[in-house]
Amino acid sequence: MRFDGKVGVVTGSGSGIGRATAIGFAQRGGTVVIADYNEEAANQVASEIAAAGGRAVAIRTDVSQPADIQAAIDLARSRFGRLDFLHNNAFAMPPGWRPSRVGEVRDEAWEHTLNVGLTACFRGMKYAVPAMREQRSGAIVNTASISGIQADYGVAAYNTIKAGLINLTRAFALEYGPYGIRANCVCPGVIDTPLIGGAGRDPEMRKRIESRIPLGRLGRPEDIANVVLFLASDLAAFVTGSAYVADGGQTAHTGIPPIIPSEG
Ligand SMILES: NC(=O)c1ccc[n+]([C@@H]2O[C@H](COP(=O)([O-])OP(=O)(O)OC[C@H]3O[C@@H](n4cnc5c(N)ncnc54)[C@H](O)[C@@H]3O)[C@@H](O)[C@H]2O)c1
Repeated sequence: MRFDGKVGVVTGSGSGIGRATAIGFAQRGGTVVIADYNEEAANQVASEIAAAGGRAVAIRTDVSQPADIQAAIDLARSRFGRLDFLHNNAFAMPPGWRPSRVGEVRDEAWEHTLNVGLTACFRGMKYAVPAMREQRSGAIVNTASISGIQADYGVAAYNTIKAGLINLTRAFALEYGPYGIRANCVCPGVIDTPLIGGAGRDPEMRKRIESRIPLGRLGRPEDIANVVLFLASDLAAFVTGSAYVADGGQTAHTGIPPIIPSEG
């Protein structure tokens, strides 16, 4: 899998899954725009890539701001002449967020979640169209989640954005397939990044989560980046409109307790 001559934009690439994707893309010959609202983290990742002999540029991008998304895409085109890959991936829970039932969700938290987690991805896709249509090629990968396929307690807005993103991706795939533009989602399970906060750090909680995962561990950012890069690559030339689950087998289970002793 190589990306020589290809140019990508990865949002939220200052940390976690986005960072691993950007590094993996650059390691395989691609040139990458590191777009994150944490400017220091973005610069750090770009320097790491450059130190390893790769090509990257960082730009402070707050995906809640349409002009920032446009600027990141424009930078790919103005500096490197093309846009082959867009990974819509940035997300953070709203400031002061805590899990709450639908009846108690604050309107501002709902709106913030939809804006950063869904509307920003719509805008990224929309702004990528002109370059990709002109080239008659391009691959978009959106980071959805298993939370977009099934629901959990206290995270309705998150469940909503990820489900919406999966169907937005399908709609886009239908409309732009004829132009050679592909769009897919990756649906991670529980991945060990700062986003999961205490769940990753608290040993008891971690054990409980791991016990629900057939492969017996939380995912690593690279586990997801590898799927994203496959979907971005020519190896996935016939894959579009898909929602690719990478969750260690977590959602393979209906939830019915085992009726035979477990192996291992
Ligand atoms: N970690 C998991 O268990 C998990 C599971 C399923 C899906 N996801 C999804 O994966 C994606 C990446 O999350 P992660 O786990 O790597 O988290 P992370 O916190 O490690 O990385 C998220 C990055 O996004 C950036 N960011 C947040 N808000 C931004 C904004 N408004 N504009 C620009 N950048 C912004 C942060 O600065 C950070 O660098 C998210 O879409 C998340 O919903 C994560």
